[in-house]
Amino acid sequence: MAETKIIDLTTPCLLVDLEIVKSNAQRMLNTATEMGVEMRPHMKTHKTLEGGVMMTGGSKNKICVSTLQEARFFSAGGFTDILYSIPITENKIKICQQTIKEVPDLKLMFDSRYGLQCIMDNPRPDGQPWSAIMEVDCGYGRTGIEWDGEEILAIAQEADKCPNIHFMGLYVHCGDSYVAESVEAIHAIGDKTAERLVEVARRLKERGVDCETVGTGSTPCCNQPSKKMANLTEFHPGCYIFNDYGLTLNGSCARSEIAIKVATRVIDYKKSKNVILVDCGFLALSLDGIQEGGYGGMCSIQDHPELKMKAMDQELGKLTAADGQQLDFDKYPIGTLLYIYPFHACHTAAMHPVYYVHSGDTVVDKWTPTRGW
Ligand SMILES: Cc1ncc(COP(=O)(O)O)c(C=O)c1O
Repeated sequence: MAETKIIDLTTPCLLVDLEIVKSNAQRMLNTATEMGVEMRPHMKTHKTLEGGVMMTGGSKNKICVSTLQEARFFSAGGFTDILYSIPITENKIKICQQTIKEVPDLKLMFDSRYGLQCIMDNPRPDGQPWSAIMEVDCGYGRTGIEWDGEEILAIAQEADKCPNIHFMGLYVHCGDSYVAESVEAIHAIGDKTAERLVEVARRLKERGVDCETVGTGSTPCCNQPSKKMANLTEFHPGCYIFNDYGLTLNGSCARSEIAIKVATRVIDYKKSKNVILVDCGFLALSLDGIQEGGYGGMCSIQDHPELKMKAMDQELGKLTAADGQQLDFDKYPIGTLLYIYPFHACHTAAMHPVYYVHSGDTVVDKWTPTRGW
């Protein structure tokens, strides 16, 4: 069979650089080993079996998922110890009760008394206890029980006493690290999160509750781990497998560590507006990042710092000169391939039904993500 080259692909499409993706996965495994922390990588960014194998170092054990569809998909692919890391609610636990036939190793997360009550009221059909982790809010302010109140202690004690629950410990997603503006600021968030988590675990221990797992995630904090994060037992980042342009802005990763880009072709010009049209609209890139720097700040075009995104429609992107000067259109003939680094890997990957994995300019594999809920 003839080799497929990137140039043979229909655009737009998502490219995954094999060497970079492997090295991103391995670097995180090394970091965890050096810090004496276990990995429970999150599958939400790529949602593929191949990515999961790389992130678990081939063990296919201990992962986080963000949908029950991911739980079923990874379990069918041979993965074990699967934490559904979304706060549990009544409608979802009813599905989980059926899902354990397919995902016997499904673990749950609760982030309120209500969530805990849902687990208490809905035992596993096989009579085993649910393994469940408590989500803590260490300052991000999205989900999780506030780390510093009395409530968190009371809820954990209740979970620990409940016969149909195996209380695993504490989980926090330190998503506040995404707005940190420097590596030092990322370290400060990593240290703050770790200190607070360890303090919750200490207060629980005083009350007779053991936390076997005390973990945090977020790619910025795990790509740039702070010293105190070594006091935790588990890391659960996900985005690092791909990395993205947004992560380069605060030093979370280097540009050379971004594994994905959207391949697109020049298809037309609107010379009167100083615009080059490409076949990458927002359905191939997503609009994430627009909230940060408008269209011009939401992506970066590989090897073309002179170009920036000006606007996007569903299937069209409009590129213009980054410095506002007149473009030399002859430099970009129709059909020219350009490669766009996305602002946020999770959202861009989610737009694509298949990822083309390449080594140099040769396509060496195709990864098919799971979709839906
Ligand atoms: C609950 C939870 N855990 C882990 C992660 C992984 O973090 P990141 O995407 O920064 O790698 C996320 C990401 O949104 C998350 O929501």
